[in-house]
Amino acid sequence: MPGESKLTLSVITAAVGGFIGHVSSHPDILDTAKEWLHTAREKGLIIDFHVLRCGDDLELIITHENGPDDRQIHELAWKTFMACQDAAVELKLYAAGRGILKDTFTGSLKCMGPGVAEIEFAERKSEPVLILMANKTSVGSWNLPLYKIFADPFNTPGLILDPTMLDGFSFRVSDIKEGREITLKTPAESHYLLALAGSPSRYIISGVFRNSDSDLAAVVSAQKCNIVGGKIAAKCEPAAIFRCQAGFPAVGEVMEAFSFPYLVEGWMRGSHTGPLMPVPFYEANPTRFDGPPRVIGAGFQVSDGRLIGPHDMFDDPSFDEARRTANQVTDYIRRHGPFQPHRMPEPEMEYTAMPIVMDKLRDRFKKIG
Ligand code: 13P
Repeated sequence: MPGESKLTLSVITAAVGGFIGHVSSHPDILDTAKEWLHTAREKGLIIDFHVLRCGDDLELIITHENGPDDRQIHELAWKTFMACQDAAVELKLYAAGRGILKDTFTGSLKCMGPGVAEIEFAERKSEPVLILMANKTSVGSWNLPLYKIFADPFNTPGLILDPTMLDGFSFRVSDIKEGREITLKTPAESHYLLALAGSPSRYIISGVFRNSDSDLAAVVSAQKCNIVGGKIAAKCEPAAIFRCQAGFPAVGEVMEAFSFPYLVEGWMRGSHTGPLMPVPFYEANPTRFDGPPRVIGAGFQVSDGRLIGPHDMFDDPSFDEARRTANQVTDYIRRHGPFQPHRMPEPEMEYTAMPIVMDKLRDRFKKIG
């Protein structure tokens, strides 16, 4: 990286069409995305890229020097998604284009459907980053691990062992019902943070900063303008970027937070709760009841903007027990069928026939007593 110039890492995600149903992504879709980004790299618009998928979500990982929310980069991602969508329509893949809310590019992707997580930084002597991407859940599902990684010394001993982390981290939290945000500083305001972040369908941690110098440590694909009617637009697929080591949590401290397959919202028809199962790339195919929800981890060393990797972070037998627990929790929670808390509360469900049911039954209700 020449001089002090800053690098931007953009992770842009969208559901462009499922193979088979909502399970996976067709290889043609990934190839189409790679061709578009390859051409952009040849033209010098971007420095490097990598294309991945988690379930049926397409993940574009791009480095460039244009800064976050850049028109050219967002337009490139938009055109890439459009080309992928055309390929999906051609193959009649499932729900082709469902992740795209609008069909003309308006200058920024942030209000258009895809999820966007972007972080700008001056590259350090060594720059390890982790990109986590989930499917069959929503962006609030990062709240729990973000708290553990950046505010809980039982997960992250670096909070008490690394002098640069001793002052803790601040969390930017969006209240999607009221369309407002607040920044809370830990450890001093940990309890306030937990009071909000424990309701992940309303309060979403969107970014984490180091208190000692306000350096951005993690970002999430949660955009204010993706809020539609008090909900994060369902197709804003969850991605999170973490800078690691030397003043930030170690790679293993980020990973540790995913050894517990905690419950998240968004499984089956976007309307069920289930355990988040950490899997290697090749196991990110949620088939049982369209799930259980999955998370993959891509590790990169960034070198002069080049993405050296990815390393498939959950391809490690030390996550076998988390996967086993997730399967046991799946067996248990599935037995609840249409009952809460497996089925999500009415206002949070992505699909519901309740208005039709109520319409049909309205006249048959009688006053009690
Ligand atoms: P996706 O949002 O991952 O396509 O899943 C939708 C769904 O309803 C699966 O049952």
